[in-house]
Amino acid sequence: MIPAPLKARAAVHNGESSSLDIRTIDVAAPGPGSVLVRLGASGVCGSDRHVLDGDWQLPSPTVMGHEGAGTVAAIGEGVVDVAVGDHVILSWFYPCRRCTACVSGRSYVCTGSRAEECLLPDGTSALSENGTRVFPYLAVGSMSEYTVVPESGAIKVPAAVPFDVASLIGCSIATGYGAVVNDAAVQAGQSAVVVGTGGVGLSIIMALNLVGANPIIAVDLSEEKLAAARELGATHTLQPGNDLAAQIQEITGGGADFAFEAIGRVQTIESLPGLITGGGKAVIVGLPPQDAPVSIDALELAESGKSLIGSNYGSTVPGRDFPRLAELYLAGKLPVDKLISDRIKLDEVNEAFDAMRRGERARSVIVFD
Ligand SMILES: NC(=O)c1ccc[n+]([C@@H]2O[C@H](COP(=O)([O-])OP(=O)(O)OC[C@H]3O[C@@H](n4cnc5c(N)ncnc54)[C@H](O)[C@@H]3O)[C@@H](O)[C@H]2O)c1
Ligand SMILES: [Zn+2]
Ligand SMILES: [Zn+2]
Repeated sequence: MIPAPLKARAAVHNGESSSLDIRTIDVAAPGPGSVLVRLGASGVCGSDRHVLDGDWQLPSPTVMGHEGAGTVAAIGEGVVDVAVGDHVILSWFYPCRRCTACVSGRSYVCTGSRAEECLLPDGTSALSENGTRVFPYLAVGSMSEYTVVPESGAIKVPAAVPFDVASLIGCSIATGYGAVVNDAAVQAGQSAVVVGTGGVGLSIIMALNLVGANPIIAVDLSEEKLAAARELGATHTLQPGNDLAAQIQEITGGGADFAFEAIGRVQTIESLPGLITGGGKAVIVGLPPQDAPVSIDALELAESGKSLIGSNYGSTVPGRDFPRLAELYLAGKLPVDKLISDRIKLDEVNEAFDAMRRGERARSVIVFD
């Protein structure tokens, strides 16, 4: 049995600084319906960076990280879905399992989850420091040796999937695959452009390749990212510029069927409708800062029958989609490991965010001992 409370080294955000402190926190034993997880790996996602850079307001102090996988170390009363020793991928939008959305199979728009408040279903957090509550980011807090999550946010996957790969299934891969398959419903032979090919954009490209989209056009400022995009299935790579829409029209013969934005910039989101053909779909995956509205030519959008849709977590149903994505990886159809550019220690997390700000590295993954 795991002694409680445990001590864990964790990357803590204090709400003001744009860097993280590596500190030792207390982790309480899991209460009813909760699960103690010993982390194996945590990805470093652009959404964590938004928080560090003050783009979104959150409760603090916060243990960052929402893209994690590990081993169940203890279970609280009443937990039946997972057992000690299971390998699990953590979901950053745990479903309440009771609201209308959840019972109708659309847990991605659950109205009962307290994930966005960074709280467990009963309104508590199992993490603290010197008696002060610490919030796990999105009720995950994966940049910690241990965390406590709700049972519905810990999905069992085969132990054959390495933790670094499993962690990425928990955010970037689920988001990219879901944007392509669940939200855009791209079919073989349809054309797609992906603007921004960091961890999330590259995951979109991987999914586009899996469903047989063609051509697949990657757009990024960084040649390093464009090389990764080619490796994962992009047929064309372009630097952004004034003639981007014209170049895409030429490659696709009039505009792409789909355009995905995976940066989170107002200007690139506004450029999406200009990249697609009549009847095409523009998909917002990148998340801009709070209170940053975009401006769209509604007349052009309506007259050309174009759609502009939002995609959150790729409308993932974690219990259905995480095991499916794990099996696709094991079958060699989703080369998630190719997304991992750097395996780092928890203490190196600030360097990973600095590299991300410079547009470097496809995906850094923290690997725990
Ligand atoms: N919708 C969702 O559910 C969801 C899930 C995860 C992440 N996100 C969001 O997706 C976005 C990307 O996340 P990430 O982890 O891939 O970040 P990242 O930093 O790894 O990737 C961003 C990429 O955009 C490129 N870029 C920056 N400015 C550019 C420009 N002007 N033109 C072209 N390329 C440019 C960078 O070079 C980089 O490759 C973030 O906003 C993140 O919050 C959304
Ligand atoms: Zn993420
Ligand atoms: Zn719900």
